[in-house]
Amino acid sequence: MIKKSDNLTLSQSQRQRLIRAAELSAQQAYAPYSRFRVGAAVLAASGEIYRGANIENASYGLSTCAERVALAAAMVAGEAQIIALAVACVDAPADAPLAHKLPCGACRQWLQELAPDAHIFVSGEARSFRLPDLLPQAFTLA
Ligand code: THU
Repeated sequence: MIKKSDNLTLSQSQRQRLIRAAELSAQQAYAPYSRFRVGAAVLAASGEIYRGANIENASYGLSTCAERVALAAAMVAGEAQIIALAVACVDAPADAPLAHKLPCGACRQWLQELAPDAHIFVSGEARSFRLPDLLPQAFTLA
């Protein structure tokens, strides 16, 4: 069992494993419209990793982001706590600005609901992120 994320420092190998899972998940993306494949991986308190990829639709607005697919997979598996999330925008050029690789606003709101304490990793970025920095003064009913 992994400890509560507040007190947790993920090891370098855990972090690398999660980022690698996100990169691999992007291979399962269904992104024929944007051609911008995204993979995500969620590390739950159980130690399990859940994967997601963006799934687009001809009715563009119905497309779903990789992060939300991974978060939903963890929830359906019955996970009570999410420790970390990694995202990999594999079609973004290596020198793309960070803004091209971070979770979108809708995914940040999902993180607020389901993984507010998660450590957030971005493939190709050395630093990690926390949600209050990405979504200050978030809407919540909790
Ligand atoms: N996308 C994600 O999967 N996650 C994000 O956080 C940002 C955007 C997807 C949605 C769409 O399929 C494609 O990337 C281009 O926006």
